[in-house]
Amino acid sequence: MPVFSKHRLPRDAGDSRRGAALDPAQSRPLTDLRVAATGVRKTYKSGDREIRALKGIDLHVAKGEFLGVLGPNGAGKTTLIECLEGIRSPDDGDVRILGADAADAREMKAVRGRMGIALQHSTLPPRLTARELLGLQARLYASDVRVDRMIDLVGIGDKADQRIEHLSGGQQQRVAVAMALMGDPELLFLDEPTSQLDPHARLALWEVLYAQRDRREASVIITTHQMEEAQRICDRVVIVDQGRIIAEGRPKDLLRQHFTARSMTFLLPMAATLDLRALNARSAPAGNGLKRVTLRTERPSATLVELGQTFGDQLSDLSVEDPTLEELFVKLTGTPLEGEAA
Ligand SMILES: Nc1ncnc2c1ncn2[C@@H]1O[C@H](COP(=O)(O)OP(=O)(O)OP(=O)(O)O)[C@@H](O)[C@H]1O
Ligand SMILES: [Mg+2]
Repeated sequence: MPVFSKHRLPRDAGDSRRGAALDPAQSRPLTDLRVAATGVRKTYKSGDREIRALKGIDLHVAKGEFLGVLGPNGAGKTTLIECLEGIRSPDDGDVRILGADAADAREMKAVRGRMGIALQHSTLPPRLTARELLGLQARLYASDVRVDRMIDLVGIGDKADQRIEHLSGGQQQRVAVAMALMGDPELLFLDEPTSQLDPHARLALWEVLYAQRDRREASVIITTHQMEEAQRICDRVVIVDQGRIIAEGRPKDLLRQHFTARSMTFLLPMAATLDLRALNARSAPAGNGLKRVTLRTERPSATLVELGQTFGDQLSDLSVEDPTLEELFVKLTGTPLEGEAA
């Protein structure tokens, strides 16, 4: 499979601080904001039932920021992202997109060409080929982005001249992302763009998005159920549950905030004595005259020093487990991730 670009993927966006300085706690000039939403509410009517999909959302997205919108099925992510795109009208609240008022059609018309959107369920015209479709999009946007180059970037070279209806789900998803990128956008909305992508294509897509950020300081708002992906890629995540934001911050900060304890495991000789109760530990024989000790500590650094001082080189195979965004997601929403439900 073709690799999209030669761009290098950062190991951990939260640490590397690529692009703009992205401290949500830090107040920033309004001009740095690509999206500013306050008090967004949306209720759907379904027969005589009312579904309160968004119950008052405040959200800001800075220039060059990658924001992950996470949450269980039905949490309100798509509704939120569509309100932020200006394609769904909230019942209440204020949404500004690239400085335009989302409720004002004239203002929105002026900024549409600077945005790229890939919907969760985009229905591409089945009879057109990817090349034709991207060509149309290029004309619509009067874009300098070359169709051939985009076909290459999203890795559909060998399928570019086949009708969309003959492409697989993942290939269609790549075309949808390519469509969003054709206008060379400063602001990209991608609703679950990687749900059908294989791991290679997923990584490659992120490279394309990083390249777009490097060139245009593009901001990207993305929904995903892939927690590992969000943790690795997003500068900031919001977790939405039942129409409300229940957590927001850099993945690392959120994890630090919610999980103070760490699990450690290591090997010791069977004969080594340690006070299991004092250490909040358990041990089990591990063969070769060794036992494996597992403990949880609220003071990981201090515990490491103490273990080193007490056992020296008797201690081996030590590992400290970091909490993951997936654990945080389950803790906060009480919902196992897709495909993992009992
Ligand atoms: N057009 C609609 N009419 C009625 N109810 C709707 C409509 N769209 C969404 N809903 C309801 O609003 C709630 C939020 O839906 P939304 O699609 O925003 O969730 P989501 O977080 O994107 O979920 P998923 O992870 O499954 O994509 C759900 O209860 C859903 O059933
Ligand atoms: Mg959705």
